[in-house]
Amino acid sequence: MSRKFIVGGNWKMNGSKSQIGEIIEFLKKGPLNAETEVVVGVPAIYLEHARSNLPETIKVAAQNCYKVPKGAFTGEISPAMIADVGCDWVILGHSERRHVFGESDELIGDKVKHALESGLNVIACIGEKLEEREAGKTEEVVYRQTKAVADKINDWSKVVLAYEPVWAIGTGKTATPAQAQEVHQSLRKWIAENISADVAAKVRIQYGGSVTASNCKELASQGDIDGFLVGGASLKPEFVNIVNAKC
Ligand code: G3P
Repeated sequence: MSRKFIVGGNWKMNGSKSQIGEIIEFLKKGPLNAETEVVVGVPAIYLEHARSNLPETIKVAAQNCYKVPKGAFTGEISPAMIADVGCDWVILGHSERRHVFGESDELIGDKVKHALESGLNVIACIGEKLEEREAGKTEEVVYRQTKAVADKINDWSKVVLAYEPVWAIGTGKTATPAQAQEVHQSLRKWIAENISADVAAKVRIQYGGSVTASNCKELASQGDIDGFLVGGASLKPEFVNIVNAKC
């Protein structure tokens, strides 16, 4: 089963109109591999600006949203609002939402459900902390986090999973290709056994955590790594090299 390679750039809480202009310039210049799907995760305040200035071939994602269409939830945004400004992707369950802002597996499952019901595509993030890996609990954690999503949805056709070991995020300590492949492969096996063989074959699983132009090709060569979710390097021209990792 061939799965379309997908590279996300998570800008996190970074950017300004002028910096976004510089990013748009290097993305437009490319050249970007047309066989790779590209999604950039933009701070909510700049979603419409980024959407209106990026080529349509580059998808724009919010970095979070809430679990209901509207209401008394000060500061939150809804999937309907994301769609209303022309964007059709959202990143949910990022480790920073989990471990900085205290989002539970249950809340993330509810958010994924509502985002899909609202017509968005979802990058759903999972990943273990260093102490969980050191305790041999990596699989237990990522299975639990994936189950929290699986318990709330039936249609996986618009879901991409992003395995992001927390200990590799922003640290420069990238998982080795073997470490990443091992988790991706066991997660896909868990999906086959607990959701369906069809979903397991089709769902794309990105790796995230200190991906750079220098390590992306070896990571991309692993059979169960279907793309990347890139943080720091997505703000730099080297992001083009990461998008082209499969070239
Ligand atoms: O969502 C991607 C991000 O968490 C990875 O960050 O800076 O390690 O590429 P970074």
